[in-house]
Amino acid sequence: MAPLVQIAATLGLTLAGTFITVDAAAVERATGLKGLNSLAKAKGRYFGTAVDAIWQNTDTKYLKISGDFKEFGMITPENEMKWYATEPTRGQFNFTGGDYIVHWAHKNGQAVRGHNFVWHSQLPDWLNNGTWDKKTLLSIMNTHIGHLGGHYRGKLYCWDVVNEPFNDDGTWRSTIWHDIIGPEFIPLALKKAHEIDPKAKLYVNDYNARRFPSVEGLSVKSDAHYNLAKSLLKQHVPYHGFGIQGHLVVGQLPTTIPQNIARFAALGLEVAFTEVDIRMDLPDNAKNQTIQANDYKTVVNACVGSKACVGITVWETSDDYSWIPGVFPTQGDALLFDNDKNPKPAYYAVADALKAAKVHGHFNSWP
Ligand code: XIL
Repeated sequence: MAPLVQIAATLGLTLAGTFITVDAAAVERATGLKGLNSLAKAKGRYFGTAVDAIWQNTDTKYLKISGDFKEFGMITPENEMKWYATEPTRGQFNFTGGDYIVHWAHKNGQAVRGHNFVWHSQLPDWLNNGTWDKKTLLSIMNTHIGHLGGHYRGKLYCWDVVNEPFNDDGTWRSTIWHDIIGPEFIPLALKKAHEIDPKAKLYVNDYNARRFPSVEGLSVKSDAHYNLAKSLLKQHVPYHGFGIQGHLVVGQLPTTIPQNIARFAALGLEVAFTEVDIRMDLPDNAKNQTIQANDYKTVVNACVGSKACVGITVWETSDDYSWIPGVFPTQGDALLFDNDKNPKPAYYAVADALKAAKVHGHFNSWP
């Protein structure tokens, strides 16, 4: 082979007469990657990932993939905007970790989901252990949303304003927010968030229930969210999106995800898959990887089957960064890239499903 042709071939370029054309298939073969966000973008959606503490991360392979706009157009800070991280002491705010991620993502052309304002988990001790009356707790909530939301005003695509307000059986979860303020903590938090950052899309976000049919599909838990949504919209509360976390189990996906998305869409809400991972028993095997690939395809098809679904975020880039083994010690390998940052069958299934999508969405990317 002539040297120029050889170099061109190595780079995935084809010499056609005097023109050099990029051979996409050759680039794919060289990198193994297909550009999930590029594929999603072509169908009016985003494809995103969550990252944590990247300010201290030196894993170049991980950073390269996570920060590549072609793969991921949306970034969620996995922990660094949570209450324990941002207001560790009452009235003293720390945005260092969150700022780093937002700056890094924007530099890469990626948009950012804010996660989250009001949740029962990962609260600082001062808040968990304090004794609060309704007026004081409301003021604490508003101060937190005011500072955190104000700091990132205009910089984020959306906020998970309320996270996980219901039990698996659809009843209100007992939390300081619900028990002291009452269910109106939700409209109050949404209104405060809207006042502080009027351009951010405001979400209520929840996860699947394991013993009941999950929130992703039709279930008592998703009924509770649907009724909440109807009531909030009737009261003209600024509520824009239902976040389906999507922490799922291989081979156990609900079959009614499309119907569930459709009913939120009919209310005029947008929907997003916000934290997808599909875990399996360890050690991993080829059969489960195939089922997992199919399950990821089911999730993508549910999203791209509705104009209301703006995008999908996976809860971390590669299996070695996943929270799953820490919480479910016998399970893992729930993501699209393996421990060595190689794409898995699920990665290609996602790419294929995005490519095949027929319905065009309406995500307008940042900025
Ligand atoms: C998890 C993080 O991934 C972990 O690193 C952390 O230790 C606990 O929280 N639902 C949510 C996420 O909304 O914020 C959680 O993230 C996973 C479940």
